[in-house]
Amino acid sequence: MTASGQAERDKRRAEALRQNLGKRKAQARARTEAAAPARADIDCFFHEPTFTATYLVADPESGEAAIVDSVLDYEGSSGRTRTTHAEKVLAAVEKRGLKVAWILETHVHADHLSASQHLKKVTGAPIGIGSDVPLVQKTFRPMFGAWDMIPDGSQFDRLFAEGERFRIGGLEVEVMHTPGHTPACITYRIGDAIFVGDTMFMPDYGSARCDFPGGDAAVLYRSVRRLLSLPGETRMFLCHDYKAPGRDRFVWETTVQAQRDGNLHVREGVTEAEFVKLRRERDAKLSMPALILPSVQVNMRAGRFPPAEADGSVHIRIPIDRF
Ligand SMILES: [Fe+2]
Repeated sequence: MTASGQAERDKRRAEALRQNLGKRKAQARARTEAAAPARADIDCFFHEPTFTATYLVADPESGEAAIVDSVLDYEGSSGRTRTTHAEKVLAAVEKRGLKVAWILETHVHADHLSASQHLKKVTGAPIGIGSDVPLVQKTFRPMFGAWDMIPDGSQFDRLFAEGERFRIGGLEVEVMHTPGHTPACITYRIGDAIFVGDTMFMPDYGSARCDFPGGDAAVLYRSVRRLLSLPGETRMFLCHDYKAPGRDRFVWETTVQAQRDGNLHVREGVTEAEFVKLRRERDAKLSMPALILPSVQVNMRAGRFPPAEADGSVHIRIPIDRF
């Protein structure tokens, strides 16, 4: 073989090697992408009067979506309700041509009223919450004299148990039972994101109170440890933010790693006993949330107000000396 023939052969072999390498890299990339969790489109609608983060979570492929932890505007001094905040979410749904498949609650909230019934009326989507919600209903039924409400969770369309899975279009949702703040709290794991309700707040703010009936700081600690065992890059979305000393803007998104590294109350290295002591000391100094009385009796009924009187008027009950 001539020298130029050999050089030509070497050139072709090098080219073939380059092409093979390129193919393998592309295959590896495809494998990594297939293994990575799907990424939901997530928009937050922050309700400043109650410091609540409502989320619109959409599957970019199918256009199906879920609304997590909605808020009904409620003026405590007058008893007047408005759907202003919920309408902002619905306007975004309409603008983007989404189809709401689920209205999701992380728990029976004690600081804002849920707009789930309004959202259901407009979208037709079912309302879901944790399957232990009867524990909350049984606790509060006598406190509010809510004898019309059967404490079996039947007010909701779907009760999600630990480990249950369902879909928002192409996005798979996994339910994690994360009690402590209330006995029925759940976390929704959607692709690479988790919606943790009131289990945790931003790293610089810490954790949620555990002193409502059925709350338990040791139980919350174990729920938090479960959440913090998820991959560090998992995006974590909170239900509330109150700013924090030295921070002048609201933030509602963090990561599992950031919480492990720096959560004020429950970062890596804090023991259960230390957390329980801290939480109990703090909870002893907290006053009740401004809207706890209307919120609980509406939210435990899946966002419905108590039944109307014969003349059609609707009333909220105020239990005296119970809270
Ligand atoms: Fe809460």
